[in-house]
Amino acid sequence: MTKLSWTGFSKKTPHERLEHLTSNALLSHEDKEILNSKGLELATANQMAENVLSTLSLPFALAPDFQVNGKDYQLPMVTEEPSVVAAASYAAKLIKRSGGFKTEIHNRLMIGQVALFDVADKATASQAILNQKADLLDLANQAHPSILKRGGGSRDLWFEEKSDFLIVYLSVDTQEAMGANMVNTMMETLVPNLEELSGGQSLMAILSNYATESLVTATAAVDLRYLSRNKEEAQLFAKKMEMASQLAQVDPYRAATHNKGIFNGVDALVLATGNDWRAIEAGAHAYASRDDQYRGLSTWTYDKESQQIKGEITLPLPIATKGGSIGLNPTVQVAHDLLGNPSAKELAGLIAALGLAQNFAALKALTSTGIQAGHMKLQAKSLALLAGAKEDQVASLVSQLLKEKHMNLETAEKLLKKL
Ligand code: HMG
Repeated sequence: MTKLSWTGFSKKTPHERLEHLTSNALLSHEDKEILNSKGLELATANQMAENVLSTLSLPFALAPDFQVNGKDYQLPMVTEEPSVVAAASYAAKLIKRSGGFKTEIHNRLMIGQVALFDVADKATASQAILNQKADLLDLANQAHPSILKRGGGSRDLWFEEKSDFLIVYLSVDTQEAMGANMVNTMMETLVPNLEELSGGQSLMAILSNYATESLVTATAAVDLRYLSRNKEEAQLFAKKMEMASQLAQVDPYRAATHNKGIFNGVDALVLATGNDWRAIEAGAHAYASRDDQYRGLSTWTYDKESQQIKGEITLPLPIATKGGSIGLNPTVQVAHDLLGNPSAKELAGLIAALGLAQNFAALKALTSTGIQAGHMKLQAKSLALLAGAKEDQVASLVSQLLKEKHMNLETAEKLLKKL
């Protein structure tokens, strides 16, 4: 079998990129038609949210050639930010040459909670709930029997005393769905029994987005020779990347930016696949603060023995491939098709890998050339368009802009007038 080449993919027009995908059987002709169309119909959008006026379009891009657990994937990315897709593609290339990504799915359960208050004797209440655990798990399943047929359902029930509350938690295997509605229904069903058993009152019954039972780890390594042809310089970059990773562990100001870079990738794939990015962000930021200090979500270490820089990321990723808006937006379906319609667990692994790739590219740039060199090269295109350049003016305006000391909208507009 001939190896599929991605060289020059970034230089192609959108039309040529689609041709490349269809001619290599990575995209069906039906999916190509969808990508060439307007995407989400207004009538459908009007069913999805309230007071709808229109729809908002964003770039739907592709970061090719991610090798994850020995398999090649092309990752769809929805993002408005220049240099994000370029950075992901760059990192994927180096990581593939160095052995690819490995992912591990630790678990895939959602957690719901019922917060009880006015519980007079929490110890007795806890024991009463514990005695009824099997019945309560059954009751939760009866609230959503279809999940049992799919192999899912409630898995465990436990509780914790926090301040004045006795909080009951339930873990649920939601299979391919994110499961918010399913878990919320189960938690509300449990309320009368929990109130009776505890003698207290329920303040609320709701899913938790702190998805600590849906952790996913991605690891990757990059051979030092890909950091620089000069061995000493490559070692220096590796040391600096390790230090950058340490900085994100000790300084929350840096950690927030470090993690923002990770979410440049995570959000782009979460959004492309129709998942709830607010839920993913909320859970991951809570996880970043799990030991009471906000820290970077990834780490990089320089391994002198293998002469590699090794990265690892763990994220709570309760990702879905069914339900929510996934079946409603045709472009979202194309994203799943491009990925080979992975399971929820497989998709979660890809998202973690992309987050790590994005972080690698950002740290490599930050600790070598600085971020502006690569980012601004691509930002110049946005500035040119913003200044009003027509398609045939963009290239020459960009090359002039890159020569300027102050690359901003004002300069772009001045240069455009001269063109
Ligand atoms: P470079 O070395 O100049 O790239 O880096 P190159 O021209 O040699 O190309 C190398 C490969 O990069 C290409 O291979 C592509 O895979 C990819 P090829 O296809 O040529 O064989 N590539 C592109 N792909 C698509 N379109 C393009 C394109 N250009 C290169 N136009 C690069 C350039 C941008 C990759 C590098 O400078 C980089 O990775 N910079 C980091 C950019 C970044 O992280 N941007 C995110 C926005 S900044 C931010 O929000 C996060 C941050 O604050 C997070 C943090 O602080 O941690 C930074």
